[in-house]
Amino acid sequence: MLHKTFETKVTIYSYNELSDSHKMLIEKAKEQVFKAYAPYSGFSVGAAIQLENNEIFAGNNQENAAYPSGLCAERVAMFYANAQFPQIPVKTLAIAAYTHGEFLKKPVTPCGACRQVLLESETRFDNSIEVLLYGSDEIYYLQNVKQLLPLCFEKTSLNK
Ligand code: THU
Repeated sequence: MLHKTFETKVTIYSYNELSDSHKMLIEKAKEQVFKAYAPYSGFSVGAAIQLENNEIFAGNNQENAAYPSGLCAERVAMFYANAQFPQIPVKTLAIAAYTHGEFLKKPVTPCGACRQVLLESETRFDNSIEVLLYGSDEIYYLQNVKQLLPLCFEKTSLNK
């Protein structure tokens, strides 16, 4: 028998330690929560994406009375960006969440389905996507989406 451990590397920043471009992307994600449509959960999420050509796309969660028909902020933003610029890799993603009148204190972490979609953008362009998970107390920085999804299923998994 063999035990194997897979590690996720996270750098923890306070807001003031971030670069100006990362602060700017986080602000875009934070703005988005106020445009979310989240009447059922009351949990508003914003996501902002910067492409390698520096274009920025942002989105938020869109809920539905038929619950599974809604979509998370990360997928709204990522599909939007990839639909508009199918040739341009994604450089950075920032996420923020707001509920009960305040931003989450701990960094918001994407759901499993969003991780899978984010991973597809990373592998599709063969270009690491930096991830910024905002919390008002601390911010998590990950060098790429793979850190969020160890033992992932990706396009190379389809090869025999
Ligand atoms: N949600 C997101 O938009 N992103 C996440 O990372 C986690 C969850 C949304 C889905 C749903 O509209 C609400 O938050 C509560 O789950």
